[in-house]
Order: sequence, then C-alpha cells, then structure tokens
Amino acid sequence: MNENLKLLNSHASVRNFTDKEISIEDEMKIVTTAQRSGTSSNRQAYSIIGIRNKKKKEILAELTGGQQHVIDSSLFLVFCADLYRLEQINEKKKYETHSDYTELFIIATVDAALVAERAMITAQALGMGGVMVGGIRNNPDKVSEMLDLPKLVYPVMGMSLGYPSKEPKLKPRLHIDAIYHK
Ligand SMILES: Cc1cc2nc3c(=O)[nH]c(=O)nc-3n(C[C@H](O)[C@H](O)[C@H](O)COP(=O)(O)O)c2cc1C
Repeated sequence: MNENLKLLNSHASVRNFTDKEISIEDEMKIVTTAQRSGTSSNRQAYSIIGIRNKKKKEILAELTGGQQHVIDSSLFLVFCADLYRLEQINEKKKYETHSDYTELFIIATVDAALVAERAMITAQALGMGGVMVGGIRNNPDKVSEMLDLPKLVYPVMGMSLGYPSKEPKLKPRLHIDAIYHK
C-alpha cells in the first residue's frame, strides 16, 4: 500500500495524550493544510478556533459532556460553520445572503466538517492523534457565549489533538456491501 493510503487506513481516534505540546509551527501546518480542503463554491463558510488555555478547556470538557480528553489535549480546535463572514461581505457588495436558507446551513456545516477531517489527517501525518468532538453541540448556546461567536456562526465539531500515549486500536467497519452500492 502506498504511504498516503497507509496513513488514511490507519485512522483510529485517540483520547489519551502525553504531556508533549504541539508546536505553534505544527499547529499552523494543521490549520493551513486543512484550509486547502475544497469548500462549496469556494465560499469557505467556516472558521476554526484554537484553544490551549487549560481553564477554557476545562469548561469545554464540561460543556461537551465531561470528556477528559478535551482537558488533556495539547490543542483543542473548534470547527464552526460561519455564515457571518459571507453576510458581511455581501452587505458591503449590496448582495442578498439568504442566511435563513436550509441549503446555506448545509453548505456551511459540510464545509466545516470537510475542513475538520483534513485537520485530523494532517495531525496524524505529523505523528499526532485526536478525536472529533460532536459533544460540542451538547450546549451550543453556552459554547457560543464562551467563544464569543457572532450570529450565524455555530460550532459543528470540536477536536482534541495531541501526541498519543498509547497506540489506538482500529475499530471495525461495516461490510463494504452495506455501504457501497453499484
Ligand atoms: C462527527 C463526529 C463526532 C464525534 N464526537 C465524539 C465525541 O464527542 N466524543 C468522542 O469520544 N468521540 C467522538 N467521535 C469519535 C467517534 O466515536 C469515532 O470516530 C468512532 O467511534 C469510530 O472510531 P475510530 O475513529 O477510532 O475509527 C466523533 C466522531 C465524529 C466523526
């Protein structure tokens, strides 16, 4: 198997981390590589928030349902769907945004999810591991208040990242016939 496929096929969520910090350089590699992800009509309707502050991670761990790995992570990322930026640009250009359309909600949510997946793969390529945190949507109001999110910006998923303290086990997948149809 070539190296890229090996990396992709080795994915397993990591929830146990060593104390080793992710360097700022690697943090930016994760974010800039994630940013190369395709997005719908290149709207880039997402924003990423990076959190290292222990106190803030403790609050987020609580808000996501008591997930210890949020605190233990070196870097916690929050991937937000962001229609606020688009609305601001459109207002300046005197275009309409239709921020209340379900289609735009889906576009922004998918953009955020695709960027998040690429961030995860990049972290793995750099020898780190992590786990996505859908629990960030457990308390969307409180999370939005804490992160000072403007209107039309909402958290889609979080991501705990760090260096694995133990090798994660691969979890099984459905039989291919269950998910692929010709
Ligand atoms: C969108 C999304 C949200 C997730 N949210 C959580 C979460 O809040 N907490 C957690 O421990 N794992 C979370 N996970 C990890 C999944 O449980 C994990 O990907 C799944 O069990 C398959 O395991 P694997 O990633 O090790 O292959 C999430 C994964 C995805 C893709």
